[in-house]
Amino acid sequence: MSARRKTTVAVIFGGRSVEHDVSIVTGHQVMRAFDPERTDVVPVYIDRQGRWYTGEPLRELKNFQNEIISLKGVHSAILSPSTEHHGLIVNPTAGRFEKSEIIRLDAVFPTVHGTHGEDGTLQGLFELADIAYVGCRVLASALANDKVMTKITLSQQGVPIVDAVSFTRAEWLDAPDKVISHILHQLKYPMFVKPATLGSSIGISKVSDEVLLRTGIEMAANLDRRILVEQGVEKAIEINCSVMGHDDQIRASVLEQPVSWDQFLTYEDKYMRGSEGMKSAERLIPAPLSPEMTEEIRNLAVRAFRGIEGSGIARLDFLIQPDTSKIYLNEINTMPGSLAFYLWQEEGMSPRDVVYALVDAARDAQAEKRRNSYDYRTSLVELTAARGLKGAKGSKGGAKTITKPSG
Ligand SMILES: Nc1ncnc2c1ncn2[C@@H]1O[C@H](COP(=O)(O)OP(=O)(O)O)[C@@H](O)[C@H]1O
Ligand SMILES: [Mg+2]
Repeated sequence: MSARRKTTVAVIFGGRSVEHDVSIVTGHQVMRAFDPERTDVVPVYIDRQGRWYTGEPLRELKNFQNEIISLKGVHSAILSPSTEHHGLIVNPTAGRFEKSEIIRLDAVFPTVHGTHGEDGTLQGLFELADIAYVGCRVLASALANDKVMTKITLSQQGVPIVDAVSFTRAEWLDAPDKVISHILHQLKYPMFVKPATLGSSIGISKVSDEVLLRTGIEMAANLDRRILVEQGVEKAIEINCSVMGHDDQIRASVLEQPVSWDQFLTYEDKYMRGSEGMKSAERLIPAPLSPEMTEEIRNLAVRAFRGIEGSGIARLDFLIQPDTSKIYLNEINTMPGSLAFYLWQEEGMSPRDVVYALVDAARDAQAEKRRNSYDYRTSLVELTAARGLKGAKGSKGGAKTITKPSG
């Protein structure tokens, strides 16, 4: 192990997302977990406007209290999509006084939560750049980020989810009464109205009559083009489980029961629950459930993560109805806050073990992907050039040459 060359890993945090601040904290927890003897960590900060930076001051959490980007030593940077660079270009628009520089990367560790980070967009950039990256691939990231698509995908695979109705903003604006009557036909109060793709409870409301239902939909429709209305689970107990791995090597962590609601509930919910919901403890680990139920949830977590083609790490959130003991999968977070370090700690894995397991898995996934060939040569361009462009489209004779390799 120690004989191995020192690797360079960029940790990316911040992002154009409502979860910007949480991501700064997760990013710093991850950076701190690396062993400086084995790894050069390159901090990469994406600000709220979506501008990218790197530099020494980004390593200090306290520097983020002020205008960090104006600090000396913070440089503008971009992750190049070109496989030629295989990394970061620092000062990409350098003029006379600053030189631009390329930092080649062995792996990228994204810790951006929510939009433009956890939703497959950032992952798409890593795919283009051909750099190993931690966590879910494009498909799983995009699926899990979308509450409607997660439900459609997982219900087809027998993972229990609460009943729900979904529709687009256009459908709502076009015929609100029709949408309401469809919802009332399918679901009972209380219901939860959610924008399809936001996190941190933004735009989510719990509603118990038609006036509130309409207001909740209006609010969600201002935030997203698709809206989900779910059957509320009464007296729901929340249970979270983290998973790590890929394919048939996914393991589930100990379960936690969060009991502090703070940032995850809407103002109304907090207000309605009053002091009763605001217990002092933050989470119970392990969650106080029977061994059978614990096992069932752990198995469901693994199945659901496989069901979306997940890889790397995630935290899956479940709801239990205590009277019927029914379990429902609520959502999958493919970039969980604090990377669920606290759950893996209970499984005997330190944050350092977790980050290296994830980087190793990222590099394995990259090696696996490199077995695909993307190079397929044809004489199409040559032939088309000879014939002239006009003849290419719709010319039946010419179409055959597309499948003929030049050899
Ligand atoms: N169908 C439901 N029944 C009961 N409680 C729910 C339901 N959906 C959401 N909640 C509550 O609202 C919280 C936020 O909803 P969630 O879907 O997890 O959104 P977010 O992506 O913002 O975390 C959950 O943690 C849970 O407490
Ligand atoms: Mg949630």
